[in-house]
Order: sequence, then C-alpha cells, then structure tokens
Amino acid sequence: MGSKELRNKFLKFFEERGHKIIPSASLIPENDSTTLFTGSGMQPLVPYLMGEPHSQGKRLVDIQKSFRAEDIEEVGDNRHTTFFEMMGNWSLGDYFKKEQLNWIFEFLVKEIQLDPKRLYVSVFRGNKEIGIEKDSKSVEIWKDIFKNYNIEANDIDFAEKNGMQDGRIFYYDETKNWWSRSGIPVNMPIGEIGGPDSEIFYDLGEDLKRHENSEYKDQPCHINCGCGRFIEIGNSVFIEFIRSEKRFDPLPQKNVDFGGGLERISMVLQGKNNIFETDLFINIIKKIEDLSGLKYADNMSAFEVIADHLRAATFIMGDDKGVMPSNIDQGYIVRRLIRRAIRYGRQLDIKKDLWIQEVSQVIIDDYKSVYPELFKNSKFIMNNLEKEEIKFGKTLEKGLKEFEKLFSHYKGDFKEFYLEVENLFNLYQTYGFPVELSIEEINKKRIQYGGVPISKDMEENFLNLFQEEIKKHQELSRTAAAGKFKGGLADTSEQTTKLHTACHLLLAALRKVLGNHVEQKGSNITAERLRFDFSHSEKLTNEQIKEIEEIVNKAIKNNLPITFEEMSLEDAKKQGASGVFESKYGEKVKVYTIGEKDNFFSKEICGGPHVKSIGNLGYFKIIKQESSGAGIRRVKAILE
Ligand code: SER
Repeated sequence: MGSKELRNKFLKFFEERGHKIIPSASLIPENDSTTLFTGSGMQPLVPYLMGEPHSQGKRLVDIQKSFRAEDIEEVGDNRHTTFFEMMGNWSLGDYFKKEQLNWIFEFLVKEIQLDPKRLYVSVFRGNKEIGIEKDSKSVEIWKDIFKNYNIEANDIDFAEKNGMQDGRIFYYDETKNWWSRSGIPVNMPIGEIGGPDSEIFYDLGEDLKRHENSEYKDQPCHINCGCGRFIEIGNSVFIEFIRSEKRFDPLPQKNVDFGGGLERISMVLQGKNNIFETDLFINIIKKIEDLSGLKYADNMSAFEVIADHLRAATFIMGDDKGVMPSNIDQGYIVRRLIRRAIRYGRQLDIKKDLWIQEVSQVIIDDYKSVYPELFKNSKFIMNNLEKEEIKFGKTLEKGLKEFEKLFSHYKGDFKEFYLEVENLFNLYQTYGFPVELSIEEINKKRIQYGGVPISKDMEENFLNLFQEEIKKHQELSRTAAAGKFKGGLADTSEQTTKLHTACHLLLAALRKVLGNHVEQKGSNITAERLRFDFSHSEKLTNEQIKEIEEIVNKAIKNNLPITFEEMSLEDAKKQGASGVFESKYGEKVKVYTIGEKDNFFSKEICGGPHVKSIGNLGYFKIIKQESSGAGIRRVKAILE
C-alpha cells in the first residue's frame, strides 16, 4: 500500500465514524511562544482541547505536517526524521478510551491489514506522587480487543528490568506513557494540559534485534527498549488533566489525541524495516544516488541525513508562512538543516557545485499533489536554496581550514581531541562555521585516531556554553552599539577600569615569567572578569600561574605609581612600550607606565582609562586558562 492510499484510508476511516477532515495547520505555529515549530498534531488544537468550541465539531481527523528539531541528531537510524506527517484523530470532549482503542486497532488490523500478532501496547503505570493512577481502564479495553483476535494478552510490569515475559500489554512510567507539550508531568508549567497515553508498537521481528553488538547487549529486550526490534507506530493520548499550582486537576472535558507517524506506518505496511526505503523517500534517495554515483546501501546515514534535512527544509520554506535561512529562530534551523545536508553531500563527494535544488525538486514533485503549497512556493524555495548553497560553500572552505590549524596545534592525545568552546565560538563568529559541524569534526578526528566521539553530556555542555557565548557576545555588541565601547571594555564602570589596569599588570607579569615573545592578542573585559589572549604556545604550569599571580599582587601591594604621557609612536617604541604599533592611534600615542619611569614594571601604548592608584585593585587571581587558537593562550582572571 502506497503512502497516498494510507493517507486517504485514514481520513476516510474516521470520516465514516463521524469525524470532520481538517487541513494541516502551518508548520510555523501561531500564538504559541512555547515552540518554534508545530511538532505534533496537538499543538494547533490546544484551545479546543481546553474547551473552546471548534467550528467543525467535536470529532476531527487530520494529517499534520510536523517538525521536531530535537530529532536532528537522531536522523540516521531506521526510524527518525525531523519532518514527518502525523495522522491524527481527535475527540474534543466526546468519545474516550473505549472507542479510541477499539477504532485505532480496527484501523490498523482490518483497514490496512497489519498482523495483530505483531502488535503490542503500552499503558501508564501510574504515579502516586502526582496523584495519577495506573491506567487500568485501558488495560481492560486492550484485553478485550486482543481477545477478539484470539491473542493472549498478559499485562506485565517492569519489562525494563525483566524483559517481555510473554506479555502483550506493558506498563511504563511517565517518561514513556505521558504526553504534554512540555514532556513529563513535573515539567509542565501551570495551565499546561496533558495526560497518560497508550502506545502501539509493531514487532519487526527477532532479526531486527540489535542486541548482539550494541549498547542494548546486556539489557532485556522489551517493546520500549530501543534495540530496533519494536517500533512505535501510534499513540493515543488521553488529554484529561491540567497542571495547577501543586496538582493535576481534571480538565472540564476528556479528550483523545491520537497521533500516528505516516512514515512509520508506511514502512511496516510496505514490508520495510527502514522508513527511507518507503515510497515517501525512494525517489529522493535515487536522486542522491545519481548525484553521488554511490549506493544508498553503502552510505546509509549520510543519505538519510541529506534526504531528511532537505525534505524538512523544503517543507518549512514551502509553508505559506515560509521561512528563509537566517541566524535566528526558525531561520536558524532551516540554515542548519541545509548546511548539514550540504556537508554530508561533501562526504559523499557530490561533485556538482550546486545540487541541493535538484533534490528539493524531487521532493516538491513527489509531494505537491498532497501539499500544493510546495509547488506554489517553489520559486521561493529554489532561490533560497541556491543562495544558501553558494554562501555556505565559501564558509565551509574557510572554516575547515581554520579548524585544521587549531588541530595542528593541539598538544594532547588525539584520541581525546577537543577544542575549548571559545575556539568553536570563534570559528562560528569569524568564519560562520556552525558549532555542530565543529563537534562533528572533533569526533571525526577522535575516531580517526582510535578514540570515541565525545559523550552526549559533553556535547550538550558544549552547546550550552556555546549559547552562553553567543548571548554574551550579543550583550557586548549591544553595549558597543550604545557607543560605550572603549578599548576592549564593555563599559567604563569602576570595576571594568580596575580590570583593565590589571590587564597591564598581567601582560608585564607574563613577559617576566614566560619571556618577551609574549604579546597581547586580544582582551575582553566585563565587570566580573578580564579575559586576555596572548602569544604563547604551551599550557601554563600551576607554578607559572602562581608566579604570575604573585608578581601582579606584589605590584598592587606596593601601590606602584601609574602615570601616562603622550608621545610619538617612535618615542614610545624607543622607551620599550608594548602595544599595537599601528598608526591608527594617530601621530601622538598615549603611553601608560606603571612603576618608575626609567625602571618601569609595565609600559603600554593604550587609550585608557585606568585607575588613579593601583593599590586598591584587590587580590588578583587567574581562574581559567585555555588555548585560544594557533599559538595563542587565553586566561581569565578576577580581582577579589
Ligand atoms: N500528541 C501525541 C504525540 O505527538 C499524539 O498525537 O505523540
């Protein structure tokens, strides 16, 4: 059965049972600040699930375009896509568990003829702490349903620990059998709705079990274990609760939200064990084979990433509220999808300069009869793809070159290769090289030298720190735009001025301890800390750090005098001042001296401002050091 027939059958099945067919809402949500994209059928219907009357009545059926950015990294197995079509049927305070579970089973088994023996279900175990009981009602209904097909249906708890135990109905906790836009119950903000759910799984067969050589090797197999044998094909959510101050209150109406992934159901219907082999993807995959001259079977994940990402980008740009690639919000995600696809294209050695439009054209042709907006907006899609591909080509070349430079200066064990987040930010900031790609490159290097990719935790940490850097940077540019930006200082408050003076002391101390090759390479000062980059290729030892701190603190303690003079650049050089010897300072430059004029501690060309007396700077302390690129170290320091 083709996917078109599946779509039609689903809509018709529920239409015959009193449901009105409603069109898919936009992928770009309206009046919903909780998320950038429509990621489920439920999102556009929230007001109606909460009680507002829907113009089409209380029974609805639809196929909703959905996009989940959080699945970007998951693409490349047999079942995850970022964009997908969610087949949904809805009871807005009308029918409930009994009708829903019976109908959906009937649809799967009678209408599209899945083998009922291959179907397994899960239900909510209950949780006393949040006052929600075990979903015994659903268990009772499921038992009756399976009985009609002469299938023994034992309900089993703790399959996570004990495996299948000949069960058919399995209890799980709220991480598996609870649905809300914000996930598990404790994450739901006040006013958010949700409820327990019951999922249906399809058994792809023992041979799809990947236990033998995987992370699942030592775990018992069960329907939710993720080893590949079972795939979730549908979820009936019983949206009956609303989060209040401390508890969950019953909603005035009990709703049903069923969602079934069209891609996954197509897959099992078409006898495949991989969604990318279904009719939804086959032409796209063929096109990538043509372009690369390679076979899908030999390069599965790269093909899957390209097919998924370009399909998603085509749909997002092809939406009537089309979004173009940019650096913010939805546009950032589109950019990331396109750029990631292009990068995987390079991995496949696709030779053409511009090729992604060709893939997108196949997608538009395949889908336009169901989603006419793709055809209508095809010019917009094509133009943006072309612009983005040209732009990214340039970016990639430069970024990879810089990355290799950083790698060549890496001093540690290559198996454990990593870069400081500030390097990644710099690659992004200066060369537009996306942080995700930096992480992928880091992992490639590690694997190449016999290591393993960085852990998920570390990756998450990287991404969070990266976001922080972006925020910090944005704040700084805002300050700069406000015209307050002077000589690397975020502002001219007393504390930043003190830290600025401390930078001069630091540079002098670095040169005393490490040698005169040390030059300032950049600085950034906020009211909390100073950040200082300088030329030096080795990591500082703890002793060196201590010595530097002592030298600076001694200068502070001795309250060395600080003075400035204006002189020509020539004279400044003659006097041994350090600093940027460029004419941008004009004829005369300002030279700050700390210590005696002829026996100085520090002498720098600098625009200021500085403190009048260094004796009350406080206690100087280095809190962090890292590499900041080829032959450049970075330290962060504070004044306590
Ligand atoms: N809202 C549920 C889900 O997205 C069912 O539609 O899984």
